[in-house]
Amino acid sequence: MKTLVKGGTIVTASETYLSDVLIDDGTIVMIGKDLGATVTADAVIDATGKLVIPGGIDVHTHLDMPFGGTYSVDDFQTGTIAAAFGGTTSIVDFAIQNYGGSLHEALETWHKKAEGKAAIDYGFHMIVREVNDKVMAEMDEMVRREGVTSFKVFMAYTNVFRLDDGSIFKAMRRTADNGGLICMHAENGGVIDVLVEKALAEGKTAPKYHALTRPSKAEGEATGRAIALSEMAGVPIYIVHLSAAEALARVREARDMGLPAYAETCPQYLFLDYSDYEKPGFEGAKYVMSPPLREKWHQEALWKGLAGNDLQVISTDHCPFCMKEKELGKDDFSKIPNGAPGIETRMSLIYNGGVVGGRISVNRFVELTSTNPAKLMGLYPKKGSITIGGDGDIVVFDPEATMTLRHSDLHMNVDYNPYEGMEVKGVPTTVLSRGKVIIDQGKYLGKVGEGQFVPRKTYTLV
Ligand code: URP
Ligand code: ZN
Ligand code: ZN
Repeated sequence: MKTLVKGGTIVTASETYLSDVLIDDGTIVMIGKDLGATVTADAVIDATGKLVIPGGIDVHTHLDMPFGGTYSVDDFQTGTIAAAFGGTTSIVDFAIQNYGGSLHEALETWHKKAEGKAAIDYGFHMIVREVNDKVMAEMDEMVRREGVTSFKVFMAYTNVFRLDDGSIFKAMRRTADNGGLICMHAENGGVIDVLVEKALAEGKTAPKYHALTRPSKAEGEATGRAIALSEMAGVPIYIVHLSAAEALARVREARDMGLPAYAETCPQYLFLDYSDYEKPGFEGAKYVMSPPLREKWHQEALWKGLAGNDLQVISTDHCPFCMKEKELGKDDFSKIPNGAPGIETRMSLIYNGGVVGGRISVNRFVELTSTNPAKLMGLYPKKGSITIGGDGDIVVFDPEATMTLRHSDLHMNVDYNPYEGMEVKGVPTTVLSRGKVIIDQGKYLGKVGEGQFVPRKTYTLV
């Protein structure tokens, strides 16, 4: 099957030029002007007036994830279809080691969740909850045999995910040896536990206390400590869902010293803020996530970090719960399942806020949402660019079209949209996964289950 995308403006992380793209059997085989004059194709997509960008890569999702006595409400079917509608053609989701369980068991569980359901390609990180000799041997096998080349460890969520510094350090040293990447949830869990206990003892149970008991300084401290630990272990570190200026300052210092420190932020930290927790009734629960939304002034610091390369990736931390699940914490904010939806809205939000907003170039938009995630997570150059030999994961993106983000128009399996009513300019119109059109003009044309597991290589530093 040959597909020709013609007449569009190709945008990669480094170049912008008018050209056609020919995809044969899922792989990009030709890039050039007026290819239609010399080649025949089974399908032709007219991209005149549109941008032709590499498919978005979201390296932080939680589909069908057990949390707080329930599960995130998008599974690999609904979540990946929603991702595709939003212009994302690959995700990296988090498999979770059970306490007392092996990494291989966890990986098998996540393979079963995804197989036959995913609409786009996917890989896995591994959340490590216990570190011992057996687990560390498995970490090597994950990297060398299973294509799982990154490990998330947590400095917060006591009795759920949190590891002590010694265990983190052991995991880091092992990862330094096996060539993997450490992904860090950097918040000071000890400080948070004390503040949560005090708030609850004082009868402060509303959703906003989730934010008030997780100060930005606790994220800054943990980020600095995580980087120091990684420096001692000699391993690159990737700080996930960075939300606060204090944390960004620690990453910037490390990078200025030449350390391999990387970080992602997410749209929620760029477009939403603490005031959302002050909404009436229980509405603030929609925004309960960790780290929490920050005071608005942090947003400009994050945008500067994105423009200046102290932040390299924008992912979503998509972890949706409906309001009935959020209500598990009706009388106690600490029981509200943490997480919010966003897998479908990332590309348009960032294009609108970043490129239309004059904060980043269109090439930087591609770099942050596709190329850098592909490089850091070992998917490049098959994914994350438009290049000969690469997968035909392509988004035809209309830079002039506008849409209003409404829950009723979105496809995520959740009963609210944190960005409700926000108007954005820049809309994906056609989405190809390995050369096959899976979204066109607002319609899903793919087949559930045709997304493939992608064994990842180890990182390329960016
Ligand atoms: O609130 C969040 N972020 N939920 C998902 C778990 C995590 O820490 O990424
Ligand atoms: Zn986290
Ligand atoms: Zn997460």
